[in-house]
Amino acid sequence: MKKNCFFYRKKKYSIEPNGVITKKSHSNIALIKYWGKHKNKIQIPLNSSISYSLGRVYTVTRLIYQEKKKRNLSIKIFLSGKEKTSFLPKILEFFHRISFYCSYLRDFNFIIETYNTFPHSSGIASSASSMSALALCIMEIEKKLVFSLKKDFFLKKASFLARLGSGSACRSIYPGLVVWGSHKSIKGSNDLYAIPYPYKVHPIFKKMVNTILIIDEKPKKILSSKGHLLMNKHPYARVRFQCANQNMDRLISILKIGDFQEFGELIEHEALTLHAMIMTSRPYFLWMKPNTLNVLHTVWDFRIQSKKNIYFTLDAGANVHLLYPIQEKKSILKWIYSDLFFYCKKIIESFCY
Ligand code: DP6
Repeated sequence: MKKNCFFYRKKKYSIEPNGVITKKSHSNIALIKYWGKHKNKIQIPLNSSISYSLGRVYTVTRLIYQEKKKRNLSIKIFLSGKEKTSFLPKILEFFHRISFYCSYLRDFNFIIETYNTFPHSSGIASSASSMSALALCIMEIEKKLVFSLKKDFFLKKASFLARLGSGSACRSIYPGLVVWGSHKSIKGSNDLYAIPYPYKVHPIFKKMVNTILIIDEKPKKILSSKGHLLMNKHPYARVRFQCANQNMDRLISILKIGDFQEFGELIEHEALTLHAMIMTSRPYFLWMKPNTLNVLHTVWDFRIQSKKNIYFTLDAGANVHLLYPIQEKKSILKWIYSDLFFYCKKIIESFCY
């Protein structure tokens, strides 16, 4: 699908002057990480990534639109009932970027009311679920203008728009395993929007538990948007992008065969590589906290001694995502509460859906 097909071109249309749309979108956790984007292009990744969408961890967004009387655009944004002027620059940039593709947006003012089921800016991708929920709301306006709009196009364009707000958000449009970024072995994969993973997945990877250990609830000191830029001058960047693309090839066969151990080793390696990139960028940074390390070592020790299939992945922050098969949920969750709870501020019981 060509980028141009996402333009909404009509100059005249009829739509009610005021309206309210509510949409929900889930967060996601990347198995192969998106880290680095093209310098002179808007939100184009330097390697392909794949994620699981997460159950119980989501954003609900209510978009109120009101016909504009004056020329200037007014947007107000509320998080859990409190006005958040600090979010405005990012949201305004988002609206500015997408108004090329959704010209009708220029005729309205907006109030965005949103809430998350998880802490904002804690390393759980709140920008992913919030930008994708907002993109879904906007597509709902477009649907009111184009009666023949097909579901497939609705989701593709929602993913395309969400990407312009936050890269990883384009993967949150779909449930399950979702791929973003062109990869030679994945048919239909491209840099403009995400697609549902199109190949065979072994049943062991279809029902997976994701337990999120919140180690640090404070907002991150370095935001991922800034971190991506550091990859442009990173001495190991080229090798990292090659490695991510090779990992994607390996993952395709792992997902088909159902080898959980290989899967776990791959995702742990990806997570540590992401953190290694930020630790070795200039300026360098460390997202992990002492309790992140305590958790990782405790998981490794437990795995050796119990032979259980439990592996971790990390996001851009201190928190840890544990992944394990649903069949082992009861015993592993019990162990998590008895041996890991001590290191955490909070535990979120999620699942890959
Ligand atoms: C570490 O999507 O938050 O979570 O495109 O600048 O908004 P922007 O970045 P963002 O980066 C997410 C990076 C990551 C890995 C991933 O989700 O793939």
